[in-house]
Amino acid sequence: MASSSSPWRDGGSHSSPSPPNPPTTTRRTLTHRSTNPLVWFAAIVCAILAVLVFVAGVVVLFIYLTYRPQTPYVRVCSTHLDGLGYDRSGLLQILLTIDMEAVDENEKTVAAFSDADFQVEFARTPLAALRAAPFVVGENGTLPLHYLVASARAPLDKAGMEKMETSLKRGQVEFGLRRQARTRWNVGVFLSMRSWARLNCKLRYFYPNGSTTGLDCSKSHFM
Ligand SMILES: *[C@@H]1O[C@H](CO)[C@@H](O)[C@H](O)[C@H]1NC(C)=O
Ligand SMILES: *[C@@H]1O[C@H](CO)[C@@H](O)[C@H](O)[C@H]1NC(C)=O
Repeated sequence: MASSSSPWRDGGSHSSPSPPNPPTTTRRTLTHRSTNPLVWFAAIVCAILAVLVFVAGVVVLFIYLTYRPQTPYVRVCSTHLDGLGYDRSGLLQILLTIDMEAVDENEKTVAAFSDADFQVEFARTPLAALRAAPFVVGENGTLPLHYLVASARAPLDKAGMEKMETSLKRGQVEFGLRRQARTRWNVGVFLSMRSWARLNCKLRYFYPNGSTTGLDCSKSHFM
């Protein structure tokens, strides 16, 4: 036990000065008598706010039950691998047809899509970007998005080259289609909703005939 130094003094290198007392003493004594009305006022304001929050909650619930808002989304309807060029140096070039559809299941409101930016990739290597100018889908409607994708020649990394070589041997190739579009739609008159229509798909094709062996899209369909 070191009796010379008290535990409250640790040499000073890390000691922070205790904050000075705020100079409120005089003011507090001056306003002391008017504190009670202020507390009452604050309590009333809080009560009013609580009631407003409750009413807003009831209104949102009512609107939700009335309109049953559905998040607009994008899905892949059909696709075909029209061409695939691959050479042993690891350069990959593809030609794809992808037919997608933007869907608005809301029966009383249109959905606006913007910043549509989807990406085709193979083994994490980006091959092509699928974009669209902003567009609107009518009530309970769909809008076709037809893409003819001609990728540039993209160099695959080592893992990508191995995967491509086994894919070609097996006669089945799988690409990824990912990313999203921004969506905006109204619920009732006042409520404007925003969300993302995301895609996370695996596009699988027979090689060399290019017909699709199935789509695997984990559609995020959230509210
Ligand atoms: C919405 O679209 C679906 C499929 O096209 C149709 O069956 C349904 O009747 C439509 N609902 C309304 C309210 O128009
Ligand atoms: C493409 O090839 C696969 C396997 O060789 C075959 O099962 C499939 O029926 C072919 N598709 C077409 C459209 O010919």
